Amino acid sequence: MAHGVAAEAAGAPVAHPGEKTLLRFLTCGSVDDGKSTLIGRLLHDTKRLFDDQLSALERDSRRYGTTGETIDFALLVDGLVAEREQGITIDVAYRYFATDRRRFIVADTPGHEQYTRNMATGASTADLAILLVDASQGILTQTRRHAYIVSLLGIRHVVLAVNKIDLVGFDRHRFNEIALAFEEAVAPFGFRSVAAIPISARDGDNVIAPSPRTPWYDGPSLIGYLEEIDVTSEEAAQPLRFPVQWVNRPDATFRGYAGTVAAGALRPGDGVLVARTGQAAHVVRIVTMDGDLPSAEAGASVTLTLDRELDASRGDVLVAPGHRPEVSDQIAAHLIWMGEEPLLPGRSYLLKCGTRTVGASVSELKHHVDIETFKPLAAKTLALNDIGLVNLSLSEPIAFDPYEVNRTTGSFILIDRFTNATVAAGMIRFGLRRATNIHWQALDVDKRARADAKGQRPCILWFTGLSGAGKSTVANLVEKKLHLAGRHTYLLDGDNVRHGLNRDLGFTDADRVENIRRVGEAAKLFVDAGLIVLVSFISPFRSERDMARDLVGRGEFVEIFVDVPLEVAEARDPKGLYRKARAGEIRNFTGISSPYEAPLAPDIHLEAGSAEPEALADQVIAFLRDGGYLRS
Ligand code: ADX
Repeated sequence: MAHGVAAEAAGAPVAHPGEKTLLRFLTCGSVDDGKSTLIGRLLHDTKRLFDDQLSALERDSRRYGTTGETIDFALLVDGLVAEREQGITIDVAYRYFATDRRRFIVADTPGHEQYTRNMATGASTADLAILLVDASQGILTQTRRHAYIVSLLGIRHVVLAVNKIDLVGFDRHRFNEIALAFEEAVAPFGFRSVAAIPISARDGDNVIAPSPRTPWYDGPSLIGYLEEIDVTSEEAAQPLRFPVQWVNRPDATFRGYAGTVAAGALRPGDGVLVARTGQAAHVVRIVTMDGDLPSAEAGASVTLTLDRELDASRGDVLVAPGHRPEVSDQIAAHLIWMGEEPLLPGRSYLLKCGTRTVGASVSELKHHVDIETFKPLAAKTLALNDIGLVNLSLSEPIAFDPYEVNRTTGSFILIDRFTNATVAAGMIRFGLRRATNIHWQALDVDKRARADAKGQRPCILWFTGLSGAGKSTVANLVEKKLHLAGRHTYLLDGDNVRHGLNRDLGFTDADRVENIRRVGEAAKLFVDAGLIVLVSFISPFRSERDMARDLVGRGEFVEIFVDVPLEVAEARDPKGLYRKARAGEIRNFTGISSPYEAPLAPDIHLEAGSAEPEALADQVIAFLRDGGYLRS
């Protein structure tokens, strides 16, 4: 049930001192294993505590809510809110129940084909996972798969609920056999606690109360176990991590850094550093709506004032001195692919880590994990639900911790720049030092000096359009006109560059992405050399054209859409390629068997189906003249 919250669902974000603690858990298993029955039973058998839950909710609403004296039902779904903020598509229902000892939030993840994505969503805040198996079937590949994903997602506690124990006649040997097989299966995953409990979700055996029908089992019931288990994370004991959500400056006298403590604790007087720059300050006040606090720890949402102004803004992380996180623009990470479209290595996505968003592309797909055997397999892409290990190259450095150290500062999502959809959840393994040790060499003769010597303003004239649209013809004419006017130019043409620099690339989506990445980088170097660069490539994808635009300065990229209807390009067919593509002799042909994403807002729109190339070239020159590009 998407976005679903049952009527009985409720939750409170933080456990208060002296109050019942909160356990968040995830259930993994299929309907056949009895997952829904188990959740139904847990909710039903614990309902007696509804009043208690309601008063907790009322109190939390007053404390954290946004609706004044009335109950804020948004707090029912705080887990949901956290993930919504991260932009993850929700396909998970959170349900609340409580006993005398503890409050629980269970993330109920549908187990159909999108299981990996759903599990990743549900697991992002869970402390423990219940894996369900059918006692008559025992441990299945699916059980192992769930255990692997759960471990990858940083959950450290697992319980195997051996369900339908009634169907195997409450057989002790059968239970022991399954419990042992499970222990062996999950041994490589390094869980902190592993338990197996024989239950019948349908009849209630060992769910709430110990069952008289399993006298040989002397452990706790499932709820008994969940009430007792200590899942205290070490997050509060870790060094401080405070991602700045926004800088609050209501007037000239107040400057506060607002955010949620991701790890560690702080008090007034404590020293903090900006992770990225190392700038230092001391905490003066910890401000909240209810007044100042003497301290705040992981989970608390507060505003800090400092004893000096820092150059810190949204996305920066304030950290404990002496415990700076890694800061890098090259990272190795596990990705769980959630996009309907497969991963395109080289494509620029948005990476959101905490409150910081940067551009990111997969520079290397190390391997795809075979989810049946956990073996690494060579791969060129990741499809929906695939898990892979990748190297990522970021447009700017981020501060992070390895995921196994901190699930908040070690995780991120990847977002498609155009659809805004979350396409992957990521878990950072480590930063790659290699690239960070290569420093940009500052040169004395710079772009400005080179451009001045030529008396011109360098830029990229990026011609995009279908094969046969006339890109190269028009680009060639424009270059001739510029050359005659004494301008210094260079023309990069797709067909030509594919004979040399890009000789190793074909026409798959991935190869086209790499083709444009390389030519974008090459064009950037020519701009740096002070030239007017003409680029004539089909460049069918918006993402990569935008990536090329981002490589150079504002105003240095002119997108020129050489627009012809497909029928016109096909009728012209100067190289006879459309005919071959229609005959199936050429695969992935743009416009026929591979998409062309027309520019939404090109700087220059050339109606190349109706006008003569000469007139189109003049249109480009006029644009450059009017835009001040040709002033020397
Ligand atoms: S791009 O899509 O990666 O930008 P690029 O501009 O480099 O393409 O190369 C396109 C040229 O390659 C076309 O003008 C055409 O001559 C040739 N070509 C060969 N096969 C294909 C194909 N499958 N799709 C498009 N162009 C192709």
